[in-house]
Amino acid sequence: MTAKIIDGKVLSKKVMKSLEPRIASLKEKGIIPGLSVIIVGEDPASLSYVTSKGKACERLGIGSETIMLKEDTPQKDLLAIIENLNTNTRVHGILVQLPLPSQIDENTVLEAINSEKDVDGFSPVNMGRLISGQDCFAPATPSGVMEMLARSKINPEGKHAVIIGRSNIVGKPMAALLMQKKKGANATVTLCHSRTKNIPDITKQADILISAIGKPNFVTADMVKPGAVVIDIGINRVDDDTREKGYCIVGDVDFEAVKEVASAITPVPGGVGRMTIAMLMKSTVQAAENTL
Ligand code: GUN
Repeated sequence: MTAKIIDGKVLSKKVMKSLEPRIASLKEKGIIPGLSVIIVGEDPASLSYVTSKGKACERLGIGSETIMLKEDTPQKDLLAIIENLNTNTRVHGILVQLPLPSQIDENTVLEAINSEKDVDGFSPVNMGRLISGQDCFAPATPSGVMEMLARSKINPEGKHAVIIGRSNIVGKPMAALLMQKKKGANATVTLCHSRTKNIPDITKQADILISAIGKPNFVTADMVKPGAVVIDIGINRVDDDTREKGYCIVGDVDFEAVKEVASAITPVPGGVGRMTIAMLMKSTVQAAENTL
């Protein structure tokens, strides 16, 4: 069997298209959705994400600003900037790019973001709302996975979903979204992490296998049940002398081998990453609509 490719480029374009009339309608009411992105330091991967977010805003006519801060920015300066954005009525979404340098406490910063503008869904208020099944801003990457499954007519209900990785950004909210008591979710979820014993024994039981561990080729074909759906959230840079940049981007999954076992699979690049950006745009539009 060769797996169907779940194409993030095609699906993310559909999400972006669906936002156009919502943005037009907001503009008729005099509202331009606005997203402020703060980046501290010059981590190349973070800079690349932030550039992609800016481009997506531009494409849709969403107002965007990127606030670039020096690596040694004190926490109090960052908190003062967030406080300003919290009260700025032209700003509907605030996103602080993670990771942050060591002098800044991530939890303090995420708690400082107004939960109505927390389009990343990382603040404790939105995390709490997510886990208790309330309406909230859910993190963009796992929301993008849910959207990709739904648009590919893959229903997680009653299926065994196995997630590898327990980060606050991906693994934990992915588990929360899949186990929601609602249409398009209702999965039985197992979450594996660095202390899990016999990961392959567990992944082989997955109907839906989701990897968010950040290790190239971690998921091999012998870890996948024939016919499983495989979602690769890893974004890893590996050296590649044949490329001008000297590296290429790969996921966590041995794509070539696993696609021969799975029934459907997301590629990297061109998979979940594209969808993450589209879902962030969706949350920003939602944040603007919530002010009406
Ligand atoms: N770092 C890696 N992914 C993300 C994300 O989705 N949002 C933020 N704020 N930082 C990240």
